Amino acid sequence: MRIVSIFGTRPEAIKMAPLVAALRAEPQINSSLCITGQHREMLAQVMALFDLQAEHQLDVMQPNQSLNGLFARLITAVDAVLERVQPDGVLVHGDTTTAAAAALAAFHRGIRVGHVEAGLRSGDIQSPYPEEMNRRLVDSVSTWLFAPTLGARDAALAEKVSGRIWVTGNTVIDALVATLAKLDHDAALERTLAERYAWLDGRRKLLLVTGHRRENFGEGFRNICAALQDLAQRGDLQIVYPVHLNPNVRDVVRSVLGERANVHLIAPVDYIDFVWLMRRAYLILTDSGGVQEEAPSLGKPVLVLRDVTERPEAVAAGTVRLVGTSRERIVTEASRLLDDPATYAGFCRSANPYGDGRACSRIVDALCERPFAQFHA
Ligand code: UD1
Ligand code: UDP
Repeated sequence: MRIVSIFGTRPEAIKMAPLVAALRAEPQINSSLCITGQHREMLAQVMALFDLQAEHQLDVMQPNQSLNGLFARLITAVDAVLERVQPDGVLVHGDTTTAAAAALAAFHRGIRVGHVEAGLRSGDIQSPYPEEMNRRLVDSVSTWLFAPTLGARDAALAEKVSGRIWVTGNTVIDALVATLAKLDHDAALERTLAERYAWLDGRRKLLLVTGHRRENFGEGFRNICAALQDLAQRGDLQIVYPVHLNPNVRDVVRSVLGERANVHLIAPVDYIDFVWLMRRAYLILTDSGGVQEEAPSLGKPVLVLRDVTERPEAVAAGTVRLVGTSRERIVTEASRLLDDPATYAGFCRSANPYGDGRACSRIVDALCERPFAQFHA
C-alpha cells in the first residue's frame, strides 16, 4: 500500500514524526513524506530534531499569509504531488490549513484519506478559528479516522461520518514518551540544556507561556500581555515565553510586554528544549492544543487562554482550566495557583487521558488490517 503523509506546521511535525518512523518500518507499507512548508523555521526545527527526511518538499509559506492565499497555494502544490505519486492513501494530521487542503485535494482525486487526531470538537465553529472548520472538513472526507480518545470517537459518530473510526490515543504522547526517554538517559544532553538555560533563576517559580491562536489576535493578545505584566510584578516569579513567529503575535507581544528582568521573550525553541522547560515549569499558560495534551502527562497545571476547548478530558481530570483572555481572570487564576498550595496540589495530579505512547503502532495496525486493541484512558 502506497501511503503519503502530508504535513506542514510545527505541531503536525511533532505529532507525525513517530508515525512516519513507524510507517517506514512497516513492510506492508510503502511510505513517503510530503512537507508543505506552511511553516518554515518552526517546521525545520522539528525536521532536524527527529531527523525526518521528506521525499516531497513544497515551499508555500509567505510572510503574514492569508488563509485563502495559503489554501490556494497548498491545494495546487499538493495536487501535483498526488498526480506524480498516485498513492493509495494520504495521511493528514489535525486541523491546520495544510490538513484541510491536502485532504480535499486527495478527496477530489478519489484517494483515501486517513485523519490522525480525528474527532476533536470544541462545538464552536468560530473557535479555534479556522481549525474547528478544518477538522470537520477532514473528518467528513476521511476513510480512516484515528480518534485519540473515546470522546473524540463519539463526537465523530455524532456527525455520522462515513469513514471507519479507531481509538488510538494521541501520537503526541508517543513523541513525548520518546523525548522524555532521551532526556532521562542522556546525561550530556541534560547538562547541555541546563547550561543553555543557566539564566533561569532557581529561586523564582517558572511560568511558561505560549500563544498564537487567530481568535486571540488583537484585544485577546493585548489582554494576555497585560495580565503577564501584572504577574511579572511578583518577586517570586519568572516568565519564559517562546514567542510564535506569526507577526500578529510577535509584534504585539514584543511591543506590549517587552523584556524586563523577570520576563524572558525567546524565539521558538526545539521540542526537546520545550519539554525540558515544561518539566521545570511551576505553571503553564497557553492557548496551544498540543501543550494541553502534554502537560497533564507531566503533572503540570495549565491555564488555557481560551473560552472553549476540543480537549475536555484534562479539564475533567482537574489538571487544566479554561480561563479565556480576560486580564483580571488570568491574574486571579494564576495568583491562586501561585499562592495556594492546596489549589496547586489539586491541579498537579498526573493524568494520561490522551495516550499511552502506543498510538502510532495502533494506526499502523489499523492501516494493515491487523487485530486492533483500542486505547483506554
Ligand atoms: C498554524 C495553524 C494552527 C497551528 C499553528 C501551530 C492554520 C490556519 N493555523 O497557525 O492551527 O496551531 O500553525 O503553530 O493552519 N511564520 C514564520 N515562520 C514559521 C512559521 C510561521 O515566519 O516557521 C509566520 C509567517 O509570517 C506566517 C505566519 O507566521 O505567514 C502565520 O503562519 P500560519 O501557518 O498561517 O499560521 P499559524 O498562526 O502559525
Ligand atoms: N513547542 C515547541 N517549541 C516551542 C513551543 C511549543 O516545540 O517553542 C511544542 C509543544 O511542546 C507542542 C507543540 O509545539 O508539542 C505545540 O505547537 P503549537 O502551540 O504551535 O500548535 P498547537 O498545538 O496549538 O496546534
